[in-house]
Amino acid sequence: MKILMAVTGLFFVFFVLFHMYGNLKMFAGPEAYNGYAEHLRVMFEPILPRMGLLWILRVLLLASVLVHAWAAFSLWDKARRARGTVGYVNRHPVATTYAARTMRWGGVLILAFVVFHLLHFTTLHIEIGGDYQALSPYERMIVSFEHWWLWLAYGVVMVLLAMHVRHGLWSSMATLGANQKRRQLAINVIALVAATLLVVGFMLPPTAILLDIIN
Ligand code: HEM
Repeated sequence: MKILMAVTGLFFVFFVLFHMYGNLKMFAGPEAYNGYAEHLRVMFEPILPRMGLLWILRVLLLASVLVHAWAAFSLWDKARRARGTVGYVNRHPVATTYAARTMRWGGVLILAFVVFHLLHFTTLHIEIGGDYQALSPYERMIVSFEHWWLWLAYGVVMVLLAMHVRHGLWSSMATLGANQKRRQLAINVIALVAATLLVVGFMLPPTAILLDIIN
């Protein structure tokens, strides 16, 4: 189950890094960003139908979320039962970093964010700042992040995500057997760099919009 968590988790890390890179195209202007959004929809045509790649990605992401959450719950339940509850007081928790202690609730919050995020930017059921059907993907980003509270909400979730990824990367390396003593420093550095990159990279476009640097 830990291997399943590690593999699905690594898949998410690649997805969010790729997504973050895509969002940075906001800085290249509306044509570049809208063109990129369209490109994702028509990639590998005619081998795949329109939206084919996107749907493959969606199915893989959904399957990974289900497996990741199910494995997390099963591992938690197993640990809880092994530990027993009668008279047990954990005076010396093993978890050492804030991230390690917040994996469970952090994960649940990130999942809640993803549901909101899909209703907002993918299904367009939550419209913040305009009539989304009439707007391009670029314009939807602009009208959304002109609201400081949305910027703040995204910022909080990106920090949570970074903490989750930092600890998750570390754990997955341990699970997959890559954390021998001589590699520990390197793994820590990779995890910290990836986490920092995610917060900074994801928040750059919303921040530039809020400050009216791109509009
Ligand atoms: C500041 C942070 C983020 C911004 C500004 C952002 C923005 C967007 C936008 C604009 C879209 C729609 C793209 C389009 O119209 O083609 C989108 C889609 C999506 N985002 Fe994000 N996103 C952020 C963070 C995240 C994170 C952290 C996750 C996952 C944990 C995520 C998961 C997704 C997913 C799954 C889709 C749907 C892709 C699809 O099936 O079409 N996003 N995002």
